[in-house]
Amino acid sequence: MKKYILEAFKKRYAIPQININGLVWIEGVLAAAEEQQSPIILGTTDKNISFLGGYDFIAYVIKKKVKAMNISVPVILHLDHGLSVEGCHKAIDAGYDSVMYDGSKLPIDENVELTRQVVNYAQRNKVYVEGEVGAVGGTEDGLTNDLKYASIEDCKQLVYESGIDTLAPALGSVHGEYKGEPDLDFDRMKQINKMLNIPLVLHGASGLSDEDVTKAISYGHAKINFNTEINMAWSRTLRDYLIDNPLVYSPQEIIKPSTQAIKNKVSEIIKKCNSNNQA
Ligand code: 13P
Repeated sequence: MKKYILEAFKKRYAIPQININGLVWIEGVLAAAEEQQSPIILGTTDKNISFLGGYDFIAYVIKKKVKAMNISVPVILHLDHGLSVEGCHKAIDAGYDSVMYDGSKLPIDENVELTRQVVNYAQRNKVYVEGEVGAVGGTEDGLTNDLKYASIEDCKQLVYESGIDTLAPALGSVHGEYKGEPDLDFDRMKQINKMLNIPLVLHGASGLSDEDVTKAISYGHAKINFNTEINMAWSRTLRDYLIDNPLVYSPQEIIKPSTQAIKNKVSEIIKKCNSNNQA
């Protein structure tokens, strides 16, 4: 992860993190990354991990799928919004390449202390760590947060005292659908980038304009997370197919167009993040 993220940070593009919600996501996302020759991050939220079959299961399946599909581009497995130190340790033990510890709901000193515990364990296993300051608004996999803009002082404290590799400063983005126009604080983003000079992570990128994504990349975002946009494309296609073909019951037939919809959406996202042909 480190090598690929630092490369993206230096060359000013972002590696998309696409959240996985089942086998067809893995297939659609890998197919898009290979076709676009883009490095790719497959994310699983901690909240969704039992739905997905557990850390060990998902790490195993992804490894096998990469091989079976002859994928040549870098594929990174990341734990999104790790809810506990123990959960992050379990993901690391299962073979995840990167973990996020989300202590954003905690007072900053506690966030720093628990993130540092994850960093200590991760470093021994050569695993990358992402931390969060402020709070990304909205809801994802049943986890809801009120939006809170990250303070520059808290960003500094988390980076300097915990030893994280990447920082997700919440600066106005939300998970799920935006209600009204997104309002990212680009001035603060610019200051954080200038002061800390480490790769940043943008959560809640579904629904942001191409201009906002490009601007965020120019201010140091080297990893950008998408989930909702892909799920919307998948569910719309699946719903339309079932309405238009009420007599079809073959799972392969029903699933094919919605897997293609995942692939198409991820290809668009890769181009938006400028990571195509960077593998
Ligand atoms: P979206 O809900 O905007 O796709 O955000 C995904 C995300 O940030 C995953 O952590």
